[in-house]
Amino acid sequence: MKLNIVCIPGDGIGPEIVTEAKKVLKKIEAVYGHEMQFEDILMGGASIDVHGVPLTDEAIATAKAADAVLMGSIGGNTQTSPWYKLEPSKRPEAGLLKIRKALNLFANLRPAVLYEELAAACPLKQEISEKGFDMMIMRELTGGLYFGERKTVEENGELKAVDTLTYSESEIRRIAIKGFEIAMKRRKKVTSVDKANVLDSSRLWRKVVEEVAKDYPEVTLEHMLVDNCAMQLVKDPGQFDVILTENMFGDILSDEASMVTGSIGMLSSASLNDTKFGLYEPSGGSAPDIAGKGIANPIATILSAAMMLRYTFDLDEEASAIEKAVKKVLEDGYRTIDIMPQDEAGKQKVTQVGTKEMGDLICERI
Ligand code: IPM
Ligand code: MN
Repeated sequence: MKLNIVCIPGDGIGPEIVTEAKKVLKKIEAVYGHEMQFEDILMGGASIDVHGVPLTDEAIATAKAADAVLMGSIGGNTQTSPWYKLEPSKRPEAGLLKIRKALNLFANLRPAVLYEELAAACPLKQEISEKGFDMMIMRELTGGLYFGERKTVEENGELKAVDTLTYSESEIRRIAIKGFEIAMKRRKKVTSVDKANVLDSSRLWRKVVEEVAKDYPEVTLEHMLVDNCAMQLVKDPGQFDVILTENMFGDILSDEASMVTGSIGMLSSASLNDTKFGLYEPSGGSAPDIAGKGIANPIATILSAAMMLRYTFDLDEEASAIEKAVKKVLEDGYRTIDIMPQDEAGKQKVTQVGTKEMGDLICERI
């Protein structure tokens, strides 16, 4: 099969982790006899440095022409990087928002899974973590507050800032359908998260989600207020299968969910439109503090590449081969620093490796 893949190495640890994911894809290409074409584009700070803007129209066109996009991470240290002296629309993050909108990537899938081998890294009490959890956060990605009109004006001698939160029925319906479809392939439970006790947009969200639910009688639907959901994620994460929610709630809750796994460096994500096209990226950020040190965990990016093989190219066997290789590497006791056990006894049982070594070890097991 011919696979036309655009890569966005981006900023911080992005280039290092994308290099390892590419290495793994090339191994798949060789073992399974595919033909992969890779092209890099600039986005975020890397693009600002060269073009003065976080994403050019040419880069968008290149991404659009591909079958899928594999991204590392973008952004720098928001306190010290010169990129953050620019106005918001010119900062690295604006590139990411722009590509999501331009490619209509409205459905963001963020799995949060507790890996058995890494249970010791979970910050929750043992009586909670031993039950395990495996949830999928479905975040609406091109609407809501992040894309509403915004402005800062002077009124009565002081500044006033306005952001707008808008959702239409069709925007809610298409993400809800994706959520229920995914739930049908999992444990058939959807928790729709909103703030319907206060917000109109949430009340419309609830109404449309209930309408969509009628087409999926096998799926159990429950509604949960977002503040309660934030509590439940640390109290009893095992109760969740699919969490379906709007853009900002999903941004915040997915970070929380990934943190309770204790291994944000392990979590992949996919941003999809209504075709097979997708942008795949690790859930973690650009980690500028450890960039260039060769210690970042490439597994989330490698697992994102596996997601890409599964969702965009329907290559289930190849995707599983990557996932199994990752599992085997963990079983064999290899860890990057972020997933090293904290206690001395635990450390003696495992071997700490760097970014490149981790990529090599996974390739060897494919
Ligand atoms: C994410 C990031 C982005 C977001 C930023 C960089 C705009 O935090 O993918 O979660 O908030 O969507
Ligand atoms: Mn975020």
